[in-house]
Amino acid sequence: MKLAFVLGTRPEIIKMAPLIQEAYKRGISPTVINTGQHRELLYPLWDFFGIKAHYNLDIMREGQDLSNTFARAISSISQVLEHHNPDWTFVQGDTTTTFAGATAAYYNKIKVAHIEAGMRTHDLFSPYPEEGNRQMVSRIANLHFCATPSNRDSLVSEGIDQDAIHVVGNTGLDSMAYVKPSDVEVKKWKTILLTLHRRESFGKGIEKILTAINYLADYGGIKIIFPMHPNPNVREAVAKFLKPSEAINICNPLEYPDFVNKMREADVILSDSGGVQEEAPFLGKPVVVLREKTERTETIGKSSFLAGFDAADIINKTVSLLTEGKIFQPDFVYGDGKSSQRILDIINK
Ligand code: UD1
Ligand code: UDP
Repeated sequence: MKLAFVLGTRPEIIKMAPLIQEAYKRGISPTVINTGQHRELLYPLWDFFGIKAHYNLDIMREGQDLSNTFARAISSISQVLEHHNPDWTFVQGDTTTTFAGATAAYYNKIKVAHIEAGMRTHDLFSPYPEEGNRQMVSRIANLHFCATPSNRDSLVSEGIDQDAIHVVGNTGLDSMAYVKPSDVEVKKWKTILLTLHRRESFGKGIEKILTAINYLADYGGIKIIFPMHPNPNVREAVAKFLKPSEAINICNPLEYPDFVNKMREADVILSDSGGVQEEAPFLGKPVVVLREKTERTETIGKSSFLAGFDAADIINKTVSLLTEGKIFQPDFVYGDGKSSQRILDIINK
């Protein structure tokens, strides 16, 4: 069987690498197509996971816009797929690479397997453009691998054939097994780990989030670690609205195992990331979600707390989590670390 994997961003490689590794173990050599939508965020991950790309389509541009990124991706992916003509093309999630990969396969009449299918907020602008991308991929995919039963229910309600849907958990949590836990430091202060990158928060949203971070930095007894995304929109907002403070350590994005270990050490995680909303509950860490809407609803009110762009809400939720000191148990609702095996068992049938 000929398989192709299309990926291009940090979360796509983290969530597809265990599947590619599982294919290697079963004697399958898939064609791995890296669109290069991300550059330095991706580089260390190839060696870390021990996988190789056959193509790097090198589409990233500084401050790239959606249409031109999509155009560069679809034309170059299409050429590769036309040449290889695989039985299945795998895409993951909801990025520009995902949508372009699925569309290129569909135009070449190649079957599409969608991983992390069925996540929905039902608001095309939150998250933007991810909600649109994943809804469009669902229309043209032939197999839909969902993380949770509620993701499956969303697809069923959209009229997708139940036989084409499989609930397998999220492959991102398979990748946790690749990370060697580091020793946890004993500290005299509370630690917050912060990440930010969503397009829909650029402008007023990110300004309000950073106002809350300034307050938390002045609160006392708190240290904030902030691995900053390279997106120029994020960097400009941070330069404009985040007050320099000894309590905030702004650094470059961390390599994946270091980031996972920082999650383990953190008292509270503040993030608008999709993957982090799955990983934090898996590790038994509370996460304040810096988004107006989330598709990861299974843990809301348990270990994840939706604060939106409201500075007071972000501050109150974070401070109460830090002061209550409640212990959260690991929650495997988004995946148990065996999703890749399930997917390959199904594709091999
Ligand atoms: C993209 C995805 C988003 C995903 C995120 C994961 C889309 C539309 N967005 O958002 O769904 O959650 O990746 O991180 O597909 N940049 C670099 N180096 C890198 C990566 C990015 O310099 O390695 C800078 C570039 O200036 C680039 C900009 O960040 O133009 C934005 O990158 P892009 O992939 O368009 O958006 P993300 O915010 O990363
Ligand atoms: N991550 C990382 N280094 C960082 C921040 C995040 O390796 O400095 C990892 C994180 O563990 C998760 C993934 O990147 O697996 C999430 O990617 P991102 O937040 O960029 O995208 P999203 O999940 O929102 O699509």
